[in-house]
Amino acid sequence: MIAEKEVVASTQPEAAPAPAGPPPLTVENVTKRFGEGPGALTALDSVSFTVAPGEFVSVIGPSGCGKSTLFHVIGGLTDATLGSVRVENETINGPHPAVGIVFQEESTFPWRSVIDNVAFPLELRGVGREQRHAAASRYIDMVGLHGFEKRRPSELSGGMRQRVSIARTLAAKPRILLMDEPFAALDEQTRLLLGDKVLQIQQQLKQTTLLITHSITEAVQLSDRILIMTYRPGRVKRIVKVDLPRPRTSDVVGSREFGACVADIWSDLREEASRGLAESEQESGSGAA
Ligand SMILES: Nc1ncnc2c1ncn2[C@@H]1O[C@H](COP(=O)(O)OP(=O)(O)OP(=O)(O)O)[C@@H](O)[C@H]1O
Ligand SMILES: [Mg+2]
Repeated sequence: MIAEKEVVASTQPEAAPAPAGPPPLTVENVTKRFGEGPGALTALDSVSFTVAPGEFVSVIGPSGCGKSTLFHVIGGLTDATLGSVRVENETINGPHPAVGIVFQEESTFPWRSVIDNVAFPLELRGVGREQRHAAASRYIDMVGLHGFEKRRPSELSGGMRQRVSIARTLAAKPRILLMDEPFAALDEQTRLLLGDKVLQIQQQLKQTTLLITHSITEAVQLSDRILIMTYRPGRVKRIVKVDLPRPRTSDVVGSREFGACVADIWSDLREEASRGLAESEQESGSGAA
């Protein structure tokens, strides 16, 4: 029996008093359909959840279950067919300045130095050169790229370039940070170490963060809660609270509690991933016939 859409309010730590004011993010009954008529595809179906201030929530689910679509709706890049997204108490209608996105694909500007990449959002806001470089330097230090300010992205590794993207998004001071598989192209060791970095920054800035990942390990290492999605249409299958103590580093990956949490999530995810695989095999089979 699947416990759909666990009530999020109950997952706040008991000891912490409930923060005043509206939650930074409320996703309410979001349905997203692509196309019309018999060929229409429901990518998201009645997705609802809330994110608390400073919370780190990972979104995990099989390929094609609607994770990126969900982020596009939250980021105001595409409209929901039904339902709404509220940032604090404001219903969004297009991109909202409080929401910053780090995309999976390389998104640094190759012709700009690291510092000018990171300072870009401030440049757009008309912040003077000296002031924006001072601010950008702080974020460059934070992501561990001190000394690389003058380099071009082509002189950096893939992991370093992703750190530039993260620093650039942070420089815009988003109240909600969305990261769509930012480490997907990196090797496992780099992912773990970058995970440490992201976590350190998130705790330092108390940054409300949502991360899409395919890695259960990454999700458990980083998150306060993990939102598991079903395969097509994308629904919230379960929201798992990760009770591992903080601060967490990649060292926690070897612990028994960590292993138990990963196994718990995998049992849910496996069901969905198998269904996804079976359906895509069926589709390609019928396509070939
Ligand atoms: N612009 C679009 N037009 C039509 N269909 C779309 C569009 N964008 C996404 N889809 C479909 O919506 C579904 C969800 O896609 P989405 O990219 O959100 O999945 P995902 O969970 O991010 O997958 P992955 O893990 O592979 O990145 C897919 O079936 C996809 O083909
Ligand atoms: Mg995606």
